[in-house]
Amino acid sequence: MNPSFASRRVFLQRSAAAAGAFSIGMNWPAWGLQDSKTGATAPAVPPSLERRKFGKTDMLVTVLGFGGAEIGYESTEGATVEKLLNSALDAGLNVVDTAECYRDSELAIAAAIGHRRKDYYLFTKCGHVGEEGSKDSTWSKKSLLASLERSLKRLKTDAVDLFQLHSCSLEELEKGEVIEAVELAKKQGKTRYIGYSGDSKAARYAIECGRFDALQTSINFADQECIELTLPLAKEKQMGVIAKRPIANAAWRYDAQPGNDYHVEYWKRLQALKYDFASGDARSKQGPDGPAGVALRFTAMQPGVSVLIVGTSKPERWAQNAELMRAGPLSKELEQSIRARWKATAKSDWSGQI
Ligand SMILES: NC(=O)c1ccc[n+]([C@@H]2O[C@H](COP(=O)([O-])OP(=O)(O)OC[C@H]3O[C@@H](n4cnc5c(N)ncnc54)[C@H](OP(=O)(O)O)[C@@H]3O)[C@@H](O)[C@H]2O)c1
Repeated sequence: MNPSFASRRVFLQRSAAAAGAFSIGMNWPAWGLQDSKTGATAPAVPPSLERRKFGKTDMLVTVLGFGGAEIGYESTEGATVEKLLNSALDAGLNVVDTAECYRDSELAIAAAIGHRRKDYYLFTKCGHVGEEGSKDSTWSKKSLLASLERSLKRLKTDAVDLFQLHSCSLEELEKGEVIEAVELAKKQGKTRYIGYSGDSKAARYAIECGRFDALQTSINFADQECIELTLPLAKEKQMGVIAKRPIANAAWRYDAQPGNDYHVEYWKRLQALKYDFASGDARSKQGPDGPAGVALRFTAMQPGVSVLIVGTSKPERWAQNAELMRAGPLSKELEQSIRARWKATAKSDWSGQI
C-alpha cells in the first residue's frame, strides 16, 4: 500500500469524524430540530457539509465536489484556480475531478493544490486525448495507459484515487479492452479505483458488467433519464455515483439561446419544462429556493448519488453552493412535481447528455 494513501485515508476519516454524527452516513438531517428521545438539539447549521460513503470504496466524499472542466476550457488564471481550490479545501471540499482532455485543467490543479494531495480525492479520466496526446487509437489499452501516465505527470502524483473511462461507446465497453486497461492500471497501483463516465445504455452496461467501482453520469432537473435507467441499479450494486453537470449548466441564466453550444440542449429543455423556479423573474432569485438551490438540492437527494461535481471558475462559488446545499433536500411535493413535469414533457431523444 502506498503510504501516502494510508495517511490520506486516516486524515479523511478523522475529518469525517470531526464533522460529527449529524453528517455521516445518514440522509440529510433535520438541522436545528430537537431529538425527541434525548432532548438534544442539532446545530442549526451543520459543522461541515455532509459526507457520503462512496459506494463500496473506503472514501467518504463531501456531497459537493469540484468539476475541473470549466477551469480548463475557460483558461482560468492560475492565481484564481489557486484561490478557488484552496479556499474550497479549507471549507471542506475533498473531491476534485478532472480529465486529460480538459486542456490545462490537470496542470492547474497540480499547481494550485498539488502540495495538499492528502487533503482530497483526485479523480481523472482517459480516452479523449488532449493536444499533446498520443496519436494511437484512443481506446486501445496502450493509449489509455499512456494517457494515465501523462495525467500522473501533469497532476504531480504517483496515483489517482479514481481513473475513469471518458465516455467511450457501448460497443467499446462490450469489446472489453478498455475495461482491461483500467483494471490493469488498478492492479499496477496507479489508481485505487476505476470508473465509467457516461450515460444511457453504455452507463447501464458499465453497471451491469460489475467491473467498475464508480459511475459518473449526468443528473439534474433537465436530465433525468438516469433516475430510472441507472441510479437504482448502481445503488443496489453499491457503486460510488458522481453527478456530472449537476446544476444543469445553470442554463436558466440565459435570456436567449446561449452562444456556448455546450449549454444549448439544457436551455432548450428548460424552455419546454417551464419550471416556475427557473422561468421569468424567478431565475434571479437567490438562496436555496432559487434555481441554483433547487438544482443542487434536487440532484443531491436522488437515491444513490454520492457527490455533485459542480464546475466553476469563480473563487466564491464553492462556498456559495455549499451554503445552498445546507438547506437539505427539497420538499417531497416539489421533488415530485419536478419528476412529474419531466415525465410529461421529456421527448424520446432527451437522453443523458455526455
Ligand atoms: N463526459 C464526462 O465525463 C463529463 C461531461 C460533462 C461534465 N463532466 C464533469 O462534470 C463537471 C461539471 O459539469 P459542468 O461544469 O459541465 O456543468 P455544471 O456543473 O452543471 O455547470 C457549471 C456551470 O454552472 C455555473 N454555476 C455553478 N454554480 C452556480 C450558481 N450557484 N449559480 C449560477 N451559476 C452557477 C458555473 O458558472 P460560474 O463559473 O459562474 O460558477 C458553470 O458555468 C465538469 O467540470 C466535469 O468534471 C464530465
